Amino acid sequence: MTSSSSKPRIILDCDPGHDDAVAIVVAAHTCELLGITTVAGNAPLDRTTHNARVLRHMLDLDVEVHSGAGRPMVVEPAFAGYVHGESGLDGADLPEPTRPLDGTDGIQFLIETARSNPGCHLVVTGPMTNIALALRSDPSLGDHIASISFMGGGTFGNRTAMSEFNFWADPHAAAVVVNSGLPLIMAGLDVTHQFQATAPRIEQVKSIDGQLAHVLSGLFDFFSANYSSRHDDMEGAAVHDPLAVLALSHPQLFESEERFVDVVIDGDHTRGMTVVDQRTLIDRPAANCTVLTKVDADAAWDVAAAAIAAGSVER
Ligand code: RIB
Ligand code: CA
Repeated sequence: MTSSSSKPRIILDCDPGHDDAVAIVVAAHTCELLGITTVAGNAPLDRTTHNARVLRHMLDLDVEVHSGAGRPMVVEPAFAGYVHGESGLDGADLPEPTRPLDGTDGIQFLIETARSNPGCHLVVTGPMTNIALALRSDPSLGDHIASISFMGGGTFGNRTAMSEFNFWADPHAAAVVVNSGLPLIMAGLDVTHQFQATAPRIEQVKSIDGQLAHVLSGLFDFFSANYSSRHDDMEGAAVHDPLAVLALSHPQLFESEERFVDVVIDGDHTRGMTVVDQRTLIDRPAANCTVLTKVDADAAWDVAAAAIAAGSVER
């Protein structure tokens, strides 16, 4: 059991979303969770914010939730109901959260919380709008944060052949963050597709007692049925977002490479495309990102299952 002093201190910016929900559960167990901010992405902001409050309620967390940007910096809003359902968290009967939202200026909350917790990490599991706007609003923000660990990008796409959804949904924000010069850890599709909610792993969650495990197993059933029906080679949903948390709390579960990464802003197939320079050329651009390339998926799932069990205890 890691002591709270050794846990990474994080602010989680998310768009729940099934895999964001798992990221919240894992973060509550493996990190010191300083706050949650929400962004439009998988669903409109009112839905992602409600869903974050539902997870906080189920985990009985004393953590502030602040909503952030309701639309991307430049492109038009576009959501992922085709994956997560119109609610953003289809597939289970969810309890109504009792604690109200703590604020609607998530960008200012990010800035203030980072300033008062120097050395904290930003963990980003949705479109990067809030982070980009925070960096624009306070150019010294980087002085207070140790790293930005994000789920996004990859050498292939899911929203288009070349673009991953979080980067596609707000390519301008992704470009601001990737070019910020801050320490970056990227959990792209190359590594997150290794972390699938297969039937045996879902059964592992179903064997856990408690409301949270029951709800999550329903969410996993929905999420994996969606992925399996939409892919001809996946045994279950890629549970993307918790890897951005585990990269900080359990770095030993990963292999990575230091790479130069950039983002393409537009193009029918290339909007939000990630450029990862894998050349062995000596005078290639300097690396700006730790790109996660491999995860010990079984060990990572065991950590997630332990987090679900810890969050499932009756209170
Ligand atoms: O492409 C996967 C990413 O888009 C995940 O963060 C998922 O939750 C969606 O936001
Ligand atoms: Ca997400």
